[in-house]
Amino acid sequence: MDTFLASHPVNPAPVEHVPGGGVVVIQGSPRPGGNCGILASWAAEEARNAGVETMVIYPHDMDIHPCIGCYQCYNTGTCVFQDEMTALIDDVAKSRLVVICSPVYTNTVPAGLKALLDRFQALHGEITLGGHSPPKRGLLMAVAGRKGIQNFRCVSGVIKAFFSLVDITPLSPVLIDGMDEIRDVRTVPGLEDHVRSKVKECLDSE
Ligand SMILES: Cc1cc2nc3c(=O)[nH]c(=O)nc-3n(C[C@H](O)[C@H](O)[C@H](O)COP(=O)(O)O)c2cc1C
Repeated sequence: MDTFLASHPVNPAPVEHVPGGGVVVIQGSPRPGGNCGILASWAAEEARNAGVETMVIYPHDMDIHPCIGCYQCYNTGTCVFQDEMTALIDDVAKSRLVVICSPVYTNTVPAGLKALLDRFQALHGEITLGGHSPPKRGLLMAVAGRKGIQNFRCVSGVIKAFFSLVDITPLSPVLIDGMDEIRDVRTVPGLEDHVRSKVKECLDSE
């Protein structure tokens, strides 16, 4: 495992915020140098190559109070908790592309990523109250240890619900199964080119 981690590139440096029309990459794995980290770095690099301001965020490094379901956001358009999610919700609302990289953990997304997604009820509250959220697209890239597309059923459902909640139009996802055997996404033929051209095409088509 140490060799595996040591052989991986460092994640792209996060920026604090992106201006309107930027790209937000959410790296949902707690392992900074794992496969989601690599997928996130390809997407972020491609977006930056296209001249688009891009931020990469790591839910497991953030201070995120879990949603308590008080529904105050549907009265005020903002969450009762003011933590690192406040700025992130604003960044996502203004962005043009949201990329989510997630491993399958116990059939679903890791806990830190789930806490982040739940807090976007506040953006739904804001939109419901008439807040402006420009059109944007969303790309899910997920990895699973086990073989078989069925391992992504829950992750795909969670991310689909999130995209739908905050008016994000989904692109076709990139799902890589069998990672227990493959170990390193960089060894999957054509994958890096596929990810890069997906991000590039999405940004070019606007
Ligand atoms: C806590 C935990 C739970 C996992 N649960 C599943 C699972 O339910 N199904 C599966 O296919 N893989 C599962 N895996 C394997 C991961 O999806 C796989 O190792 C993935 O490549 C990790 O992504 P990363 O390299 O970006 O961290 C699990 C791994 C961990 C650490």
